[in-house]
Amino acid sequence: MEIENRDHILSVIKWLSLINVVPTRAAILYTEFVTKWEKEEQLLDSELEEMVSSGLISRSNETYSLTAEGRRLSQQNVARAFGAWMITCEHSAAYRELCKQVYGGNRCQFNAVTQAQLEKLLTVLNLSECQSILDMGCGTGALTEYFADHINGHVTGIDFSSEAVKFAQERTLENKIAFHSKLWTLMR
Ligand SMILES: C[S@@+](CC[C@H](N)C(=O)[O-])C[C@H]1O[C@@H](n2cnc3c(N)ncnc32)[C@H](O)[C@@H]1O
Repeated sequence: MEIENRDHILSVIKWLSLINVVPTRAAILYTEFVTKWEKEEQLLDSELEEMVSSGLISRSNETYSLTAEGRRLSQQNVARAFGAWMITCEHSAAYRELCKQVYGGNRCQFNAVTQAQLEKLLTVLNLSECQSILDMGCGTGALTEYFADHINGHVTGIDFSSEAVKFAQERTLENKIAFHSKLWTLMR
């Protein structure tokens, strides 16, 4: 089995579950992310079989779901992909320029927050000295750092991408921010 196929199937099953579509073989086959399977149905079947026997997914009534190990691997893939994207953006002069021009300030945004919105957020939050901020999904931490520079309280960033967290820690050695590599599980 190609690792790439396996990772692809894991993310499709996870994604279908998130949008409340039952991950049957047909749903997996016709999901836009896996159009390549339309030509290779048999390959999909053999990949699914192998993933069932290696304990990454389980099948019940023609419906597939991730096992604990499948979930772990899928999260690891997403974290790795996020880390790689964000670190690439951090190193890109073009992306920094885009953030400046589109959002009015470069925070290496991996969202669409503008500088004006950030300033408004700080005004609305009006944090006192004893209050802290927890940035869940801080990525490489540029926004976390912005908050740390503008409030008196303690700032913590967590992210399940250990690469992004390491990047954030190295960039902010002198700063009053704690970055941790952690998974949050408020959502499914
Ligand atoms: C869209 S990016 C936002 C990054 C940064 N906060 C920003 O606004 O530029 C989402 C971040 O959340 C992290 N993330 C997503 N799900 C997570 C989870 N369950 N636990 C920890 N981090 C998670 C990703 O690794 C990624 O860095």
